[in-house]
Amino acid sequence: MAFTEFKHPLILDKLTRMRRIETSSKDFRENLNEIASLMVYEVFRDVPVAPIKIKTPVTDTIGYTIESPVVLVPILRAGLGMVDGIQSIIPTARIAHVGLYRDEVTKQPVQYFAKKTSDIEQSFILVVDPMLATGGSAIKAIDIVKEWGAKTIKFICLVACPEGVDALSKAHPDVDIFAASLDEKLDADSYIVPGLGDAGDRIFGTK
Ligand code: PRP
Ligand code: URA
Repeated sequence: MAFTEFKHPLILDKLTRMRRIETSSKDFRENLNEIASLMVYEVFRDVPVAPIKIKTPVTDTIGYTIESPVVLVPILRAGLGMVDGIQSIIPTARIAHVGLYRDEVTKQPVQYFAKKTSDIEQSFILVVDPMLATGGSAIKAIDIVKEWGAKTIKFICLVACPEGVDALSKAHPDVDIFAASLDEKLDADSYIVPGLGDAGDRIFGTK
């Protein structure tokens, strides 16, 4: 397992906008998608490419194509806020969905939906969710994706905390974790500090 925290100036600037309490839902969504597309550029750095013969207007040559199909798995709801940004970079990515919410009292994930794509076993899977707090939701989502037969899985989030990274890397040591920021800790209500509040509510304007 590897954990990567992004410290790029563009990401730091956009994430700071998202953290501010006064940021509108529209600006929150735009910055989230922009950060997701910047992150995926780096996540793909070591992805295998296959050579293909092509013709340019000038000559025959060899080009390269990403070897495996790509499947995004947003954890509903908040993970949906990262899909457009990633698909703008990988337009052929297909989308499988896992619906989970965190029980307000127990903080355990409760599943309410799951829909896979047909080619999951051969695909490069990106499970996405803005927040990695206790890690319960990410662990459950990856359990589901592995039950579908997924072999190569990466987890991309915006804000993580040490508790979530520890829990996820123990439960799924084969899954690389990418976060725009590793924040300080969880508070007594299992919210990330300093964090950005409830990502789903801020994306969808439900509070
Ligand atoms: C949030 C977030 C993660 C989860 C993280 O979702 O988007 O899925 O909490 O917390 P955990 O690491 O402690 O499991 P939430 O349950 O609020 O649902 P929502 O996306 O529908 O708002
Ligand atoms: N879910 C969120 O949306 N934010 C947190 O800080 C923790 C869980």
